[in-house]
Amino acid sequence: MALNVEEQSLAIARTWCAAQGDGWSVTDQAGRGGTAPVYGVDSPEGVKALKIYDAAFSHGEKGEIEDLRIEQQKQLGRHGFPGMVEVHDGGRFQDRIFLLMNRAPGQELEKRLADVPADKIRSIVDQVAKAAIFLRGRGLTHRDLKSANVFITDDFAHATVLDLSVMREINDPVGIGTDQGDRLPVVATARYSPPEYLFRLLEPGPEAWHALDVYQLGGLLHDLIMREPLFEQAYHAAKDNRYRFAWTVATVEPRVEADDVDRDLLALARRALDKDWRRRSRLKLEDFLNSTAVRQRRSLAMLGLGVSAPGGTDASPAEVRRQLTDLGDKVRDEITSRLRALNVLPSHDVEWPDDETCEVSFRWESGQTGAEPVGLRIRLRRSPAGVQQTLPSVALTWGDQERGVDLPAVPWEDDAGRLVVDGVMQVLGELADRFMSAGQDGS
Ligand SMILES: Nc1ncnc2c1ncn2[C@@H]1O[C@H](COP(=O)(O)OP(=O)(O)O)[C@@H](O)[C@H]1O
Ligand SMILES: [Mg+2]
Repeated sequence: MALNVEEQSLAIARTWCAAQGDGWSVTDQAGRGGTAPVYGVDSPEGVKALKIYDAAFSHGEKGEIEDLRIEQQKQLGRHGFPGMVEVHDGGRFQDRIFLLMNRAPGQELEKRLADVPADKIRSIVDQVAKAAIFLRGRGLTHRDLKSANVFITDDFAHATVLDLSVMREINDPVGIGTDQGDRLPVVATARYSPPEYLFRLLEPGPEAWHALDVYQLGGLLHDLIMREPLFEQAYHAAKDNRYRFAWTVATVEPRVEADDVDRDLLALARRALDKDWRRRSRLKLEDFLNSTAVRQRRSLAMLGLGVSAPGGTDASPAEVRRQLTDLGDKVRDEITSRLRALNVLPSHDVEWPDDETCEVSFRWESGQTGAEPVGLRIRLRRSPAGVQQTLPSVALTWGDQERGVDLPAVPWEDDAGRLVVDGVMQVLGELADRFMSAGQDGS
């Protein structure tokens, strides 16, 4: 009788061991991923894990891509970092691609989610974050961090990050193989992909990979807190419809709640799963570490006393500019749409009077015959160092006259764009009035 797919792979694993010589044998199956079964192997050097890629991923274009990925993993070599799998060998054997690794102790975290004690969550996330930091130090990003790719020991003390197959160089603009190109990736990878990655809205590069790392660490936190994989129900409901699933990923805020988990972790997970990649990216990988300093900083931030988020004392000029640009864009779009609702079609302009001030202005005709055009100018200024907020001001111009007012400071963290626009809309009436009343000067 012909061997089925799994039997074929097992037979190849056994033959591979036999070819290594004495002391090598297959002991069990360690797991199975989307591309390969992985076997436990005894060797003179101790236990190892042998991945035998399915035929579909060993030949043709996919095989060539895997060949390159194997090379990349081998280059990382015996790194000695405890929280991440080590690749010992790889290449081709018979008609398959194989990968030999150290065997991670324990089981897939995804299968143990129901059993993880709440007080182990911090240390598990800490270990995975350290692996992400380690890779970043080597100029790499994992790209597939999720509970199915983390092994956890039976006492929940030690986590090992597995599956470096889609790891990528941070500064490589091309990536290995098709990298799924512009196509919508399959549901399995979509599950832990933030919207901008799923839909390829961001150019590959350090910014995109940071946003992805943070999201995936958020996904891990989610799984540990909720004790089930991200978007579990939607995933099963949309198994055969990846567009439906993509819709979920792009629009649904996953619930992150648990009575027995500390609030700073809940807040961290929610921030890390933010659909808005810019806001999400303000988190650092270090924010996921389990250190007292990190924890205190997070707790202070929750009380509005944060001191180190971008926009605060440690924000670089580039960061400030990025934040202000982002805010300026939101204000521009929102004001445009509010004016449109009033049947006003404004032209707009964004200028930078200096590096820490973004100025968004609009112009339109008042509709009265012979009247001068009307202008609205919103200035977004970074407030003096140490305070994480923007100081907005607004001015209305009519011909060569101007009436303006400062708005209350708006914190970076909040929905700053909406707060600024609400503030602007509230004072417009007052400013218009000041044009009409006799004897008032511009201000
Ligand atoms: N080094 C390892 N030690 C122990 N188990 C492993 C190891 N590598 C993989 N596994 C198990 O095999 C499964 C599939 O391996 P993985 O590399 O994730 O394959 P895929 O790329 O197809 O997802 C993993 O989820 C895990 O259960
Ligand atoms: Mg896997």
